[in-house]
Amino acid sequence: MSGHEEGHVCSCATPYHPWQARITSIIDLTEKEKLFELRIIDADVRENFTFDSGQFIELSLFGVGEAPVSISSAPSKQGFIELCVRNSGDVTGALHRKQCGDVVGLRGPYGRGFPFEEMKGHDILLVAGGLGIAPLKSLINHIHDERHEFGTVTILYGSRNPSEVLFRQQFDMWKHRDDFNLILTVDQPDETWDGEVGLVTKLFDRIDVNPDNTYGAICGPPVMYKYVIEEMRKKQMDVDRIYVSFERRMKCGVGKCGHCGVGHQYACTDGPVFSYWEAMNLQGAI
Ligand SMILES: Cc1cc2nc3c(=O)[nH]c(=O)nc-3n(C[C@H](O)[C@H](O)[C@H](O)COP(=O)(O)OP(=O)(O)OC[C@H]3O[C@@H](n4cnc5c(N)ncnc54)[C@H](O)[C@@H]3O)c2cc1C
Ligand code: FES
Repeated sequence: MSGHEEGHVCSCATPYHPWQARITSIIDLTEKEKLFELRIIDADVRENFTFDSGQFIELSLFGVGEAPVSISSAPSKQGFIELCVRNSGDVTGALHRKQCGDVVGLRGPYGRGFPFEEMKGHDILLVAGGLGIAPLKSLINHIHDERHEFGTVTILYGSRNPSEVLFRQQFDMWKHRDDFNLILTVDQPDETWDGEVGLVTKLFDRIDVNPDNTYGAICGPPVMYKYVIEEMRKKQMDVDRIYVSFERRMKCGVGKCGHCGVGHQYACTDGPVFSYWEAMNLQGAI
């Protein structure tokens, strides 16, 4: 990082060069996941930084490496981004050991996010499993900021057990709102749980969908997609109004290294968000 001291305005032309961000808040969400708020240090970068919900950044821990991470905050939170990160290896483990005030590297935003503008004026059905709530949280926050632009908004979120429910405090408060229909479920309940029990697909019995006016978005473990899409199709939703976000192993994030192939496309540049119509035509996507 020589020549890239804190606050230095980076004029590097290479897309691989990270800029710096300071950790301004860390919240323990579960045993494995923390929510990090980062403030971009460089004023030029900070003022010009925009993204779409569903896009990701490459997070750099200097001397350790890089990892792709979805942005969980809404684009309206100018100058700051939030990352919900599971401690799952070298880079994410090193991030989990950081404190408020420490500096990390970021590059991006990368990829294609959800078609927010196209979704306006419609009902929205969001379905998340486990850590899949991380990118959908950005979309939820963005919809919240412009709530009057949307019809009914339904969020179905499944976790393995109550201790793994992410954003539980906020969602507990949201359960009582009438502008969001939020239903949480867990596979294995405990004595603290008074919500639904069973797979997220079971929740489809509890909701009404207007198929001519609804956009769907799905993010979660790979095994979930097929079954959630089946439920959406049973509700007669159009294949080109169902959006899926794919996680593939990534390196460069900018379409150069070939690590993230989905059929004949790259998840890092053509995705990670694809319509189900597009995904059906990509070999091995679902
Ligand atoms: C577009 C995108 C968005 C992501 N968003 C988030 C997010 O919001 N929060 C979050 O916590 N994680 C997210 N991830 C996953 C995260 O990038 C990986 O867990 C990352 O590799 C962790 O880096 P590491 O150095 O800590 O782990 P490593 O030390 O590199 O790896 C730990 C283990 O995970 C395996 N692994 C690495 N990448 C993947 C992958 N993509 N899928 C399955 N297994 C993998 C490795 O083989 C190894 O076994 C995202 C991934 C992608 C592609
Ligand atoms: S991560 Fe390198 S091509 Fe997609």
